[in-house]
Amino acid sequence: MIDYKKIENCIKEAGKMVLTANLERASVEQKTGDANFCTEYDVKVQKFLIDELSKILPEASFFGEEDTNNNIKDLEKEYIFYIDPIDGTTNFMFGYNHSSISVGLAHNGKMIAGFVYNPYVDEMYKAVRNEGAFLNNKPLKMTDRAVSEGIIAFGCARYNENKVDVLFSTVKELFLKSLSIRSGGSAAIDLSRIAKGANVIYIELKLQPYDYAAASVILEEAGGVITRIGGGEISLLEPCSILAGTKKAHKEVMAIAKEKGYTSNF
Ligand code: 2AM
Ligand code: CA
Repeated sequence: MIDYKKIENCIKEAGKMVLTANLERASVEQKTGDANFCTEYDVKVQKFLIDELSKILPEASFFGEEDTNNNIKDLEKEYIFYIDPIDGTTNFMFGYNHSSISVGLAHNGKMIAGFVYNPYVDEMYKAVRNEGAFLNNKPLKMTDRAVSEGIIAFGCARYNENKVDVLFSTVKELFLKSLSIRSGGSAAIDLSRIAKGANVIYIELKLQPYDYAAASVILEEAGGVITRIGGGEISLLEPCSILAGTKKAHKEVMAIAKEKGYTSNF
């Protein structure tokens, strides 16, 4: 039996590290690519999580944003934790108070559990496969809204700049069909918000497995759908595009994506 309560508690502890961070004195490293930052807190939080999660599930491997030495190269491992210590690092650096800690667990290549914690508002989204999705222990069951009935969220990380025209033309079309549009800066929160019913769609051209692995379980357990923009299955090994939503909205956006020429494994 995996002790999910212990996992949840250690993510909340990591949340305290984010809340008490001294941003004025934090060192920041620029990783490869545009606007791709890593603060000392990303590294510290990830190390804390790996240390604590290793005690809870010693046989697990790790796929984390900040420590490439630990990253898995295949899905052969029985248990893999997908860790994003601070999803929304740019928000974190600029004091937006809108970032999350994202921890997903895969068993034999399939996601079985996910936790996305926003420490600023103390919101813990969590799900264990076939046991439903919860927000702070309250069950989440989304209403199957269409694009015209809800808010669209999108991600536009700077490292995707060369494809920005195609993304923005899709986003413009969705904006004109929807009630409104947002870009929150933490993919894990934007995805989890679909489970809560706050967004009907989240779309982004390229994310890493640790950005969406945890939220994918939360979303699916609440009744939503997550695929690549062209409809192909999401990858747990490499970056891919993401289209997530309520069943209705996802179907509508898939039709738009097809018209725009997105292939299924885009
Ligand atoms: P991050 O803050 O952990 O880097 C914003 O659109 C979303 O894109 C955030 O979830 C952000 O995660 C992610 N993002 C930004 N740059 C990224 C990169 N180089 N690789 C993967 N995800 C990235
Ligand atoms: Ca991230």
